Amino acid sequence: MREKKFSNTERKAVKRKWREEKLLAQMKKDRQLRLEKEAKTKEEEEEKIKRSRCGRHYTVAIALPGSILDNAQSMELRAYLAGQVARAAAIFNVDEIVIFDETSQAKQDPSEFSGLKKPGHGNTQLFHILQYLECPQYLRKMFFPYHQDLKYAGLLNPLDIPHHLRESDFCEYREGVTLNKPISAKKEKGSYANVGLKKDVILNMNIKPGQRVTVRLKEQDTDKKNLAGVVVSPTEPRETAGIYWGYTVRVASCLSEVFTESPHEGGYDLAIGTSERGRNVEHTEISQFQHAVVVFGGLKGLEASLEADSNIQSDDPSELFQHYVNICPGQGSRTIRTEEAILIAMSSLAPKLKAVH
Ligand SMILES: C[S@@+](CC[C@H](N)C(=O)[O-])C[C@H]1O[C@@H](n2cnc3c(N)ncnc32)[C@H](O)[C@@H]1O
Repeated sequence: MREKKFSNTERKAVKRKWREEKLLAQMKKDRQLRLEKEAKTKEEEEEKIKRSRCGRHYTVAIALPGSILDNAQSMELRAYLAGQVARAAAIFNVDEIVIFDETSQAKQDPSEFSGLKKPGHGNTQLFHILQYLECPQYLRKMFFPYHQDLKYAGLLNPLDIPHHLRESDFCEYREGVTLNKPISAKKEKGSYANVGLKKDVILNMNIKPGQRVTVRLKEQDTDKKNLAGVVVSPTEPRETAGIYWGYTVRVASCLSEVFTESPHEGGYDLAIGTSERGRNVEHTEISQFQHAVVVFGGLKGLEASLEADSNIQSDDPSELFQHYVNICPGQGSRTIRTEEAILIAMSSLAPKLKAVH
């Protein structure tokens, strides 16, 4: 049979039709993709709103002098005391611990960590132990080389906070350390991190090895060799899911630096001082705040810190705070120790701080 010959006009018409069909198919595909993208964005936004409703948007800090360790009689007791401060902070969801030098004469650099083989003085040792205890167990070897200050830290009671996860625990977020492991050439960017699971996680960005990161895991049950995760701010678990994510620690060289070096833009908008000479905490009414700090004194009380601080003109601690509270009116013992005061104060204050949000 002879093939039918098409005229030029017919050929052009077929071609035009074919082009139109191709264009229509492409338009349909584009529309589908656009709709899918819009639906995904909407879903993500709704999820964000939903999650932000159960998040916690305020922070609570405590401040205390590291000199409290210097009154302990042995290295074991020094470590135990630091452990008590860490446990109290964890129990009450404290987000930041500020260690201040009540003598305003700090000489040691708290970031100095390796090489110093003798016990640090109170501020430094408290700084080291608090950081050690906050760090998830599976990351400690990476971040804490041997140091005399930490000699008994491994024996201390664990904090058992939500980001101290076992391999078998499921959590959307995990703390991790970036690894010195090259990623596949097919990927444009990314780094590997160990987040305490059998499989490493491929992160969405390049980060130099040895950095501590907070990771939101994309999928956890997968047959793939590696997991995928997104690096997020360490505040995200608290702000979006209301999960307590441990505390940060900083050292202030004097009492005034507790306030002037606040990590929050605009500083703390609520400062509470504690003393047996304060006002009964039960009569204290807290108003709305964003970032609170509760300040404790050492053996000689907050007066000693004020006296040593040349930046503070007043010698009356109550002038420094919105509230100056007595947390245990009618106390039986003549003195309440700072580590005890943290527990007592936070058990009265925490519900008040929460109630205004
Ligand atoms: C050993 S006490 C200091 C006692 C010191 N003699 C004084 O007069 O303040 C250490 C810290 O615990 C806290 N504290 C002790 N008893 C308290 C109380 N009844 N109310 C509030 N805070 C108290 C304060 O922060 C105090 O600076």
